[in-house]
Amino acid sequence: MSGVAGAGVLVAPILGCGSDAPGDGGVDAAPAPVFPVPPLDDGELVGGVRVFRLRLRSGSVEWVSGFPTATHGVNGAFLGPALRFRRGERVRLEVTNELGETTTLHWHGVQLPAASDGGPYQTIAAAATWVTEFDVVQPAMTAWYHPHLMERTARHVYMGIAGVILIEDDAQGVVLPSTYGVDDLPLVIQDRRLAADGTHPYSPGHVPSMHDQMAGLRGETMLVNGIRQLRGVVPRGLVRLRMLNGSNARAYNLGFTDGRSFVQVAGDGGLLAAPVTTTRVLLAPGERAELLVDFGDDPEGGAVALASFSGEVFAQLYTGTMGGAVADALDRTTFELMTFEVGAAPAAPLSPPSTLPPVIRMTADQAVRTRSIVLDMTGPSVTINGARMTSLGASVPAAINFQIPNGSVERWDVSNNSFMVHPLHIHNRHFQILDIDGQPPPVQLAGWKDTVLVAPGQVVRLMLRFEGITDAAFPYMFHCHILEHEDMGMMGQFYIVDP
Ligand code: C2O
Ligand code: CU
Ligand code: CU
Repeated sequence: MSGVAGAGVLVAPILGCGSDAPGDGGVDAAPAPVFPVPPLDDGELVGGVRVFRLRLRSGSVEWVSGFPTATHGVNGAFLGPALRFRRGERVRLEVTNELGETTTLHWHGVQLPAASDGGPYQTIAAAATWVTEFDVVQPAMTAWYHPHLMERTARHVYMGIAGVILIEDDAQGVVLPSTYGVDDLPLVIQDRRLAADGTHPYSPGHVPSMHDQMAGLRGETMLVNGIRQLRGVVPRGLVRLRMLNGSNARAYNLGFTDGRSFVQVAGDGGLLAAPVTTTRVLLAPGERAELLVDFGDDPEGGAVALASFSGEVFAQLYTGTMGGAVADALDRTTFELMTFEVGAAPAAPLSPPSTLPPVIRMTADQAVRTRSIVLDMTGPSVTINGARMTSLGASVPAAINFQIPNGSVERWDVSNNSFMVHPLHIHNRHFQILDIDGQPPPVQLAGWKDTVLVAPGQVVRLMLRFEGITDAAFPYMFHCHILEHEDMGMMGQFYIVDP
């Protein structure tokens, strides 16, 4: 069973193709649409535990014709399978590192014990296998996985280690398109700076410049699911797109080139309180959004492109001369990411839900303490509260190392004093945005989240409930999800400890 699109990029098996449809007047079964998605991995049930075997390996992909780019991937040449977890089950991840160097594998957005987090403390030496096991306790959502080695996260993700995690929950309470690879499609959006010889600034033997580290590395080649100029066939009906911004540094202001509206039903932490009809979704690195797009009114054979209308948000995300200097040409304009082609109508068309289960909002008075988190850039450094994490457990000064009693509710007031956007990500516990510059968040941002875009000059107040399994030995991380910033130390850590 293999379907390969582009050299070495693993995609789900190709089930059928319009031009191959039988023309003999027999049963005119609609061919299954072809959409290149990562292979779905349901793991294997072993004694009641769902076991996933992940092999981190090297490979190559020919994005530049005639010049294969050296890559990393999980069970394949580039990126990794979509892991399907089910709420209430126990999962075991067996991660074998064949990269020839130490790395880690972190489960971004997953609620788990600190020792299972796969952050910088859970290193996997070359040739070693890391086995970790935990209960899936959270509601349905789209999470993801990627390496998190101290000072090497950006490189390992850029080389290609990343994938989505689909968390399913039978008690979700709403019907959404859910046939993987047909009307339920993950879209991993990444940009790459590819030279004419197929190399990039993280290729073996290369290092990004100081400018690229400060600005965050952006590239001009857009990949969706690892494929350049991806074209995928969708059924002529309602399609669920699970967007993941898996880029190191670029934010996308997503929309369609024909201006059509779509319905956002979920953010980072699962379902929103209500479906939101919109034409744009702004996604910073690390953020996810689930969109329902209706292709039912499109002609069969029609096409529409997904684009980033970056110019519309440029002035919000980058300020002043310095902001202008870290942005690139694409940050100021509109560019296409991929194209949807419209196939046959599905047998049983779905419509978007008109309501979603309520999200209980946290309130400011629930907080037992508040912290201020100041994001800044001065000279050649990126800081949180004036500090940088310089090695495991150490920051200079030691301002970003919190001991948080289990069960406490905190308010984090996050301000961005710099000239460019920083997406703040917090491990393990999802949060709610209390307000943005004093205003309640729009519905799109009012659900549970784990990564929040903080624009220059903004103050975003978050409500967090630190509740879970205590561990005095291993912390969780919080950091800027521009991976170059994370690697430069724009990261802190917190322990959840016994009260
Ligand atoms: Cu997506 Cu600390 O990571
Ligand atoms: Cu994370
Ligand atoms: Cu940053």
